Amino acid sequence: MMRAVSVAALALCCLVALEATRCCTAQITPRNNTISSCLLSNGVKNFSLPGSPSYTPLLDSSIRNRRFELPGVGKPAAVVLPASKQELQRAILCARSSSLAIRVRSGGHSYEGLSYTTENHVPFLVIDLSGLNRVRVDPAGSGTAWAESGATLGEVPGRTGPVEAIAKLIHKWQYVGPNLPDEFYLSMYIPTGSSSNGNVSVSFIGQVLGPKNLALSVLSQRFPELGLTEAELSENFDRLVRAKSKVDPGNVFNNAQSIPPLH
Ligand SMILES: *[C@@H]1O[C@H](CO)[C@@H](O)[C@H](O)[C@H]1NC(C)=O
Ligand SMILES: *[C@@H]1O[C@H](CO)[C@@H](O)[C@H](O)[C@H]1NC(C)=O
Ligand SMILES: *[C@@H]1O[C@H](CO)[C@@H](O)[C@H](O)[C@H]1NC(C)=O
Repeated sequence: MMRAVSVAALALCCLVALEATRCCTAQITPRNNTISSCLLSNGVKNFSLPGSPSYTPLLDSSIRNRRFELPGVGKPAAVVLPASKQELQRAILCARSSSLAIRVRSGGHSYEGLSYTTENHVPFLVIDLSGLNRVRVDPAGSGTAWAESGATLGEVPGRTGPVEAIAKLIHKWQYVGPNLPDEFYLSMYIPTGSSSNGNVSVSFIGQVLGPKNLALSVLSQRFPELGLTEAELSENFDRLVRAKSKVDPGNVFNNAQSIPPLH
């Protein structure tokens, strides 16, 4: 068993070495075969196990297709949130040493359940990349930009209220969403555990290929019921424009929804 583990570690190490042109330091101490002891003994502390209070909310947090929340659906042996590439490597090695399949969750919107479950109840681990969300452009102008997999565009927080009020909001969204300008995308879902004491919640997830003030002015005009405030919008557009200007200043790669370079 130990030999199998070190061969796996070596194989991964070499794969990484090919890409990074220097070998990584991803050596793990499997300690014993439990996933939690492997993660802990290798310095990966941010994870949640079945039975812990954070497990279900964390697992369900980005599930859009609620049938994957049902009890009969295979659940992961742990949800791990690596904070760095090194932790990500160690989480992968720990999964292998514990014979767990790996499901990777980035934005987490897979309607097919690809990031939440496995077929035939194969034991698995969810690696949630939401902590790896940096976008970096090489300042030396080597023409490279890196967007980590957990990077997302804007997200509008949820709205909570009595069923009738939330139903009205969802009703209105059905007319507003499909008719927004092309730069807009606005989806809606009802998150898990969203009803309590007669109140229900709805989440809106959206992105706008443009600056924050465009999002605010269009949405407050077309969907005033949402009551969107500036503080609820995060802005990545400028960063994306800077990345685009570095890697593709001539706008060779373009379509109706692509980020424009600076002029
Ligand atoms: C594996 O590690 C866990 C956590 O450290 C511990 O509770 C368990 O007893 C260990 N199992 C074996 C077989 O050593
Ligand atoms: C775990 O990771 C998530 C995602 O990066 C982060 O929001 C959270 O604060 C982390 N928790 C701890 C205890 O570090
Ligand atoms: C229900 O939602 C309303 C509107 O957001 C809020 O004022 C109220 O406190 C909520 N009630 C409960 C029981 O959560």
